[in-house]
Amino acid sequence: MMITILLLVILKAGALRAGLSVTFENPNPCAFKGSSVEFRCSYSYDDGQTVIETTWYKGELKDGTWVRVKLSDLPLIKNRSEYVGDKQHDCSLALHDLQLNDTGYYYFRFDTDKYGRRSRKSVYLSVTELRARVHPDTVRAGDDVTLECNTSCKLHSALWYKDGRPVTKPKFQAQAEDAGKYLCVVEGQESVRSDPVALDVHYPPMDVSVEVRYIVNQTDFPSIVNLTCSSSANPAAVNYTWFRRKTKSSSSSLLQVGSGQVLSVPIVELSHGGPYNCQARNTVGENNSTEVLLREDDDSTLTSLNYILILVGIGVKAVILLVLPLVIVWAWRRGSSSDVEKEENNCDFSTDV
Ligand SMILES: *[C@@H]1O[C@H](CO)[C@@H](O)[C@H](O)[C@H]1NC(C)=O
Ligand SMILES: *[C@@H]1O[C@H](CO)[C@@H](O)[C@H](O)[C@H]1NC(C)=O
Ligand SMILES: *[C@@H]1O[C@H](CO)[C@@H](O)[C@H](O)[C@H]1NC(C)=O
Ligand SMILES: *[C@@H]1O[C@H](CO)[C@@H](O)[C@H](O)[C@H]1NC(C)=O
Ligand SMILES: *[C@@H]1O[C@H](CO)[C@@H](O)[C@H](O)[C@H]1NC(C)=O
Ligand SMILES: *[C@@H]1O[C@H](CO)[C@@H](O)[C@H](O)[C@H]1NC(C)=O
Repeated sequence: MMITILLLVILKAGALRAGLSVTFENPNPCAFKGSSVEFRCSYSYDDGQTVIETTWYKGELKDGTWVRVKLSDLPLIKNRSEYVGDKQHDCSLALHDLQLNDTGYYYFRFDTDKYGRRSRKSVYLSVTELRARVHPDTVRAGDDVTLECNTSCKLHSALWYKDGRPVTKPKFQAQAEDAGKYLCVVEGQESVRSDPVALDVHYPPMDVSVEVRYIVNQTDFPSIVNLTCSSSANPAAVNYTWFRRKTKSSSSSLLQVGSGQVLSVPIVELSHGGPYNCQARNTVGENNSTEVLLREDDDSTLTSLNYILILVGIGVKAVILLVLPLVIVWAWRRGSSSDVEKEENNCDFSTDV
């Protein structure tokens, strides 16, 4: 009798194990931060039972022990989880807008009108980020650069963007215009993107140019000329050297005439002749401006337009200075004579008052 009961219990337990099960299609999903994942899951139970409740849990470490906490009790996950299964045989769960710390073990449990059953096995979810790397991140123009998109999920293909525009090759020789911010995305999942990483391309000064400014003082005659050297360079040019070419000697030689971004040349010194140019230098190299001719011979100190303007200025002043006293004298004389007339008139009418 005892044996029969024992046998029945064992048989019944065996039947339970056979009839009740939870199966996860992919027990080790890997997903990207910000994306969604679906745990495909199915469950079965003995015929004739009704499912009352389904519940998903996350394994949480509490005081050194792992406990299963209902997702509905985890406020940070609750809103992002969606039960896409039913109360028949589908127990799939979707998680949205994944965060790195969603990584972990997930369990399913269902209760029928007769008993409850929780999954012994779990889904282990890994949430990972895309990490873009530009290697090396600072290069000189012409050097090789490699773009790497790293992640702990298996990544079939990554696409690259630089400042919003697609990059065709992840390996290239950097030019000045390749400097910028790069990020990678998962092909077919473009919303999953890495943080941008910067590429800095160093190059020697280019487009070195000289700006010429005649500095005019109170006498109206330019007394000095300021030459300003500018260039496009990375890092910015720090050292400037000014040269003047000696044209008088048959073999033209260069004379170093100054340093610094601005060179002030007194007008009187222009009579020494020769075109000027500047050399801009940064840590990568140097480059020269084209020559600037401030003066061709002793007769033209300035551009003729400047000269004309100055001469016109002098002319107008001379006219004003000469004519003004005459006008004043004339006006004064006229004014005093009319005063006399008025006085006479006043006398005429005063008798009536
Ligand atoms: C979750 O959603 C509820 C209602 O929709 C809202 O009150 C609550 O602030 C949300 N919690 C989080 C963590 O987003
Ligand atoms: C999980 O990460 C999110 C965003 O990084 C953070 O707001 C939240 O506090 C973290 N939750 C836990 C339990 O550490
Ligand atoms: C100097 O600059 C010009 C353009 O301004 C550029 O074409 C040339 O390559 C530069 N030379 C060097 C040595 O960098
Ligand atoms: C011209 O250069 C001198 C010396 O570098 C400077 O003191 C002056 O401010 C400059 N003048 C102008 C108008 O740039
Ligand atoms: C700029 O000039 C200073 C002083 O002459 C020198 O120490 C420095 O090395 C120069 N920098 C470059 C990039 O040539
Ligand atoms: C710039 O001019 C200097 C002096 O003439 C010369 O030595 C140097 O080679 C020139 N640099 C370039 C890049 O042309």
